[in-house]
Amino acid sequence: MSLKSINPVKTKAWNDLKDHYEIIKDVQMKNLFVENPERANEMSIIWDEFLLDYSKNRITTETLSLLKALADEMKLNSSISKYFSGFKINKTENRSVLHTALRAPKDSKIEVDGINIISEIFEVKNKISQFSNGVISGQLKGYTNKNFTDIVNVGIGGSDLGPSMVINALTYYSNHLKLHFINNIDGDYVSEVLKRLNPETTLFVIVSKTFTTQETISNAHTIKKWFLKSASSHDLKKHLVAVTVNIKAANDFGVESKNVFKTWDWVGGRFSLWSAAGLSINLALGNDNFERLLDGAHKMDLHFQNAPFEENIPIITAMLSIWYNNFFNADSEAIIPYSQNLRKLPAYLQQAVMESNGKSIDRFGKKVDYQTGNIIWGGVGTNVQHAFFQLMHQGTKLIPADFIAFKKSLYGNTAQHDKLISNFLAQSEALLCGKTKDQIADEINDKEIIPYKIFPGNRPTNTIFIDKLTPENLGKLIAMYEHKIFVQGIIWNIYSYDQFGVELGKKLAGRILNDFSQDELNDHDASTKRLINNYKNFL
Ligand code: F6P
Repeated sequence: MSLKSINPVKTKAWNDLKDHYEIIKDVQMKNLFVENPERANEMSIIWDEFLLDYSKNRITTETLSLLKALADEMKLNSSISKYFSGFKINKTENRSVLHTALRAPKDSKIEVDGINIISEIFEVKNKISQFSNGVISGQLKGYTNKNFTDIVNVGIGGSDLGPSMVINALTYYSNHLKLHFINNIDGDYVSEVLKRLNPETTLFVIVSKTFTTQETISNAHTIKKWFLKSASSHDLKKHLVAVTVNIKAANDFGVESKNVFKTWDWVGGRFSLWSAAGLSINLALGNDNFERLLDGAHKMDLHFQNAPFEENIPIITAMLSIWYNNFFNADSEAIIPYSQNLRKLPAYLQQAVMESNGKSIDRFGKKVDYQTGNIIWGGVGTNVQHAFFQLMHQGTKLIPADFIAFKKSLYGNTAQHDKLISNFLAQSEALLCGKTKDQIADEINDKEIIPYKIFPGNRPTNTIFIDKLTPENLGKLIAMYEHKIFVQGIIWNIYSYDQFGVELGKKLAGRILNDFSQDELNDHDASTKRLINNYKNFL
């Protein structure tokens, strides 16, 4: 049984929301706060170590009940049950979507094709922890009997972004191993990374679900060649591990079976950091911290499945995002963590969100006539205040934003942490309140300048204020966004878990690569043909 197909724009709630938008569109949030002194309390969710304040949104209680009605008409609750219990909700690839099973407890029962997958998940988890303990403790050594000092994660997309985001975010919890990431096909970049490494003490973790991805496989070959300049192919075996569904291809490449870590086709690449694709995370942080990350995600899974609409963080954030995307026509959404450690979160979420919900064919197989996936972008505060915040405050675009911060400083530099948090709170306050003509007129004499100094305000933000950056809390945060993606896919009536849109460019790159080595070009449009010739003539 797959997901129900319902056209959202034909629901009663959607049409009620359209009418409601006409009433809300000019309402000033500032006034809503004055009218209801309890607004901040009423529109906040306190859960575990999270506080979500969504009161700075262009909504009333009426908006919320209409968004709930929409979720109900779109059968959100029964879709959530299907998602968690292994129904093949990735219909276009005939697969279950079970990254949530990777963080479920040992006594859970989750079936794929009638087989409980939990015991297999725990087998792989044990293999990961044994291997990673061996590397961290120095029990497993390189070909000259030296301890490993450097780990290189070789992968791209979901096989890179998740591990690198988490390892960067949790660097405070990391051990002595130095982590590197080779992702791009750009050979100059590979050389830059390799020139700093010693083959005797470096372990390469090749992560590719398919083991056919051009970038990863080319990079793995380059690494092999580099390694074999100093050692034999027998020595190389100690330095290569692979994470994949395609075990045969990994073996054929030269990875020994004991060094191949299995993943499954029911784990999508962009949701795979909880699986063996997170092996580098496990190596960098140790198994206990990896388990804490998984535990946090599992807690969010339970919250998502059980909390009522008004208290459900992923559902509320997803429905607000739909409110802006589909009724206010806001194209994009900004992710602004006030934590340098979360600097890779926006890029990670770009893949997770945009590869999932960047679709225009609905679950009836028809072209949608409404907007789907939003554009995700962002960067860390306070840096971005000195970059793109000008546009957020005074530009013409409506950009809903998630502001994320941790209350506690990891190293205890409270004086600077207070400054960081004061900026975090000040920016969303400024986006909400703006600055009026009268306020400016009181400050300056030159009347001509007044219009340039006005801040319109009324710009929506969510504040996600978390006690401390810990593996558990990061796990919860990532799972929160995973479920937000799911909810939006359900409401937009699309399939969120395939990514056919990445295929065409890959195929065409293959044809163009052939053109470089043959006289007669394949058929191309005139612009591409001219550019190919220009490159060939240059070489
Ligand atoms: O290009 C799209 C994609 O398939 C992503 O979805 C995936 O995360 C990435 O490529 C890497 O794929 P693989 O793990 O199979 O190398």
